[in-house]
Amino acid sequence: MKKGWLIVFEGIDGAGKSTQVERLAGFLRGQGRVVQTTREPTAGQYGAKIRQLSGEGAPLSLEEELALFVEDRREHVRDLIEPALARGEVVLSDRYYLSNVAYQGARGLEPGAILARNEALFPAPTAAILLEASAQEGLGRVLARGGELNRAYEQEDFLVRVAEIYAELDLPYLIRVPATGSPEQVHAGILRALDPWLSQD
Ligand code: TYD
Repeated sequence: MKKGWLIVFEGIDGAGKSTQVERLAGFLRGQGRVVQTTREPTAGQYGAKIRQLSGEGAPLSLEEELALFVEDRREHVRDLIEPALARGEVVLSDRYYLSNVAYQGARGLEPGAILARNEALFPAPTAAILLEASAQEGLGRVLARGGELNRAYEQEDFLVRVAEIYAELDLPYLIRVPATGSPEQVHAGILRALDPWLSQD
């Protein structure tokens, strides 16, 4: 049986993650792999709570917010990611624990401590594709698709800090891909970056 892969997509809002998840899923299915696409926050009980609270601008403490994201991830890993990997499938996730590091780090928690907590609880990804875009580019795309900047997560100063934390990460599984070209160009960049895995199979 083929070995399961967990490939996660990271980057600021508007970097184009969801488009690239779908493109890579199509490519890998064309190669005969069974692919699950998923995202965080999930549609589960904790993910729903995160969305509800972020819509209300509710005053959660940073620790409470972090705990909700971690609980959401615990369910995600237990119910979807680990079973799929055990079946030898490919899981493509739009966000995983490096979002926790970058976003809750930008909110004021210590990025290294958030990373350590997640690494202790959850499997490391096979590869984390960081789609690199500036805060201005990301916000421009969020607005172009009709999004509103009504959430603390999408204000420019905040996204600048998120992008800085992503830029400082130094992890063996992290692959940086510029997100500034067309969707086709970015997809081609992702395939090149994943070549070491794609060609060994
Ligand atoms: P997003 O992918 O933008 O969902 P939607 O498009 O449905 O709003 O995710 C919502 C926000 O959650 C995003 O701005 C990043 C944030 N987030 C964190 O702050 N920490 C995390 O651990 C994760 C997974 C997401």
